[in-house]
Amino acid sequence: MMKTIRIAIDGPAGAGKSTIAKLAAEKLNYTYVDTGAMYRAITYKSIENNLELSNEEAIVSLLASTKIELQPSDLGQQVLMDDQNVSDAIRSQQVTAHVSEVSAHARVREELVRRQMVLAQSGGVIMDGRDIGTHVIPDAELKIFMSATAEERARRRFVDNKERGISIEFEELKADIIRRDKFDSERKASPLVQAQDAIYLDTTNLTIQQVVDQIVELAKERELQQ
Ligand code: DC
Repeated sequence: MMKTIRIAIDGPAGAGKSTIAKLAAEKLNYTYVDTGAMYRAITYKSIENNLELSNEEAIVSLLASTKIELQPSDLGQQVLMDDQNVSDAIRSQQVTAHVSEVSAHARVREELVRRQMVLAQSGGVIMDGRDIGTHVIPDAELKIFMSATAEERARRRFVDNKERGISIEFEELKADIIRRDKFDSERKASPLVQAQDAIYLDTTNLTIQQVVDQIVELAKERELQQ
């Protein structure tokens, strides 16, 4: 009987982490956990409650009474906040523009990391985010740091948006990606950095399938080593 492992996937916005993690999870029969969705959910609720997003105290106290659940479904992972389906609402441009500010609060991170650690405990999990290999599962059996050029990441977002009927100029998407990269990498509380023992994967010139195959192969090797 093969043991299941914990896989941490980190990297900047638009590197393809969620698409790839989802597909790899299906192939491996693992649970996929999108940690960005948790930061998005509390950002969405803070905006809905008209909180000042610089007010860490207020956001932390709102988070304490907020239930966030990630549920797999045929339509992809569904995000439930206080039993309400917010899967689409948390992807709005407004939430995207403000999530970096909310996720920079150390105590917001502390609480979400605590919840994520519980989700990772049982193994057979593939989790994506910014600090998974460095803070959430520092002893993960497999760590990947995935990136691509800002140009390519903006191009992917553009195509993705077009399919969803969202029209935002390419240059605006690119500027937003560069701004978020900078903010996420320079924040004080667990900035986006590659874990020392992570495998770096540049996906600029790779297809989704090629990246999924590489990760599945690495995961199978690590499973055998357990
Ligand atoms: O992956 P995403 O675009 O849905 O993430 C949204 C934001 O949340 C991103 O700007 C950085 C933050 N984030 C984080 O700080 N740590 C994580 N583990 C996941 C996301």
